[in-house]
Amino acid sequence: MSLCYKGKAILAPMVRVGTLPMRLLALKYGADIVYAEEIIDFKILKTTRIENKLLGTVDFVLTDGTVVFRTCDVEKQRVVFQMGTADSERALKVAKLLENDVAGIDVNMGCPKDYSCKGGMGAALLTQPDTVRKILTTLVQGVSKPVTCKIRILPTVEETIAFAKMVEETGIVALAVHGREKHERSRDPVHINVIREVAKAVSIPVIANGVSLMINTYKDIEKYRQETGCSSVMLARAAQWNPSIFRKEGRLSASEVITEYIKLNEKRKRKRSNLSSEITEMKVKYLRKLYTGGVTPKGILLEWSSRRRCCIQCFNSNSSNSYNDEDNRKNSNFFMLSPGETVSNSPPMKPLKGKKTDGLKVLLSSETRNILQRSGGWIL
Ligand SMILES: Cc1cc2nc3c(=O)[nH]c(=O)nc-3n(C[C@H](O)[C@H](O)[C@H](O)COP(=O)(O)O)c2cc1C
Repeated sequence: MSLCYKGKAILAPMVRVGTLPMRLLALKYGADIVYAEEIIDFKILKTTRIENKLLGTVDFVLTDGTVVFRTCDVEKQRVVFQMGTADSERALKVAKLLENDVAGIDVNMGCPKDYSCKGGMGAALLTQPDTVRKILTTLVQGVSKPVTCKIRILPTVEETIAFAKMVEETGIVALAVHGREKHERSRDPVHINVIREVAKAVSIPVIANGVSLMINTYKDIEKYRQETGCSSVMLARAAQWNPSIFRKEGRLSASEVITEYIKLNEKRKRKRSNLSSEITEMKVKYLRKLYTGGVTPKGILLEWSSRRRCCIQCFNSNSSNSYNDEDNRKNSNFFMLSPGETVSNSPPMKPLKGKKTDGLKVLLSSETRNILQRSGGWIL
């Protein structure tokens, strides 16, 4: 089945947010297509593909056990893998590695961060049409899955249209347009008019992106699809704040979303895991109020108390704490736990991998670590 990009509500790629549980939640609530977080070509090429029988997932794992990308059957027909790349040959290798496990392949041409641009990736590609042409043509010709790219707008409408037409000629099946320039922050107004002009100028489906600040209900998704004249709408922050934004019947409260999140994980584990009987008690150990105005970054900690297995998924739900804002990013309380790490909210605080842990103490028991590493890790 080939992905269709018309009339769709799409979960945008989001580093550290668009992991498997978030994507499954978004799909459950009604998202039609889910983009995974951007992964740099060099990194995914270092991984080995492993079928994780315990979790029923396909994992792309580094030699130290770190799961770089995890996917499963539920999303197979609707997940798009986004890569960061500046090289057509590497891009093709990545796409070949993943093409049987995902529904589509996307190239990030919008990330404004130095770490991306210095390597010639992300928004740096917006000024490198020859490289872009080569990457996209190589992918389109080399893989069996639909190829797309996600861009930011250029300084003028004309330049943006010229770029969009150039990528269209490579044979990509759709184009996502974040209606902000490289230097603009996510709180700056989005240029709806430019997205609209691009949608008019090309014949492939254009996916409007950047409108989260105007999205309060599901109906707004359709409203902005029409206002931008686009085929589809892609949401990042609106979904980060509350993934049930994709629900036609209306958004759910934070506690309902969390409950669904827990059920979703429990169901998968019960179905797949030999250890299901041991996972009898699941507690929300640490939970801050999500989605309420003016509250600082948030996290959800789920702990399987019976064996001290735990899993953390941070939804950073403060709009000012944006991916595009260096200061906020540094102070973000996003962090990843390695397999088997346990968490309590008692002091003293311990910085983890150079990131603030926001009052969470992270401890590892070797027994738990061993069990969890053998199982491929519980941390999604
Ligand atoms: C936490 C976070 C992580 C992001 N990571 C990515 C990414 O991996 N790849 C990408 O193309 N854009 C990324 N973005 C940008 C979004 O996909 C999107 O273009 C931007 O937030 C504007 O859309 P919105 O108004 O719906 O939030 C990220 C944004 C956020 C908030």
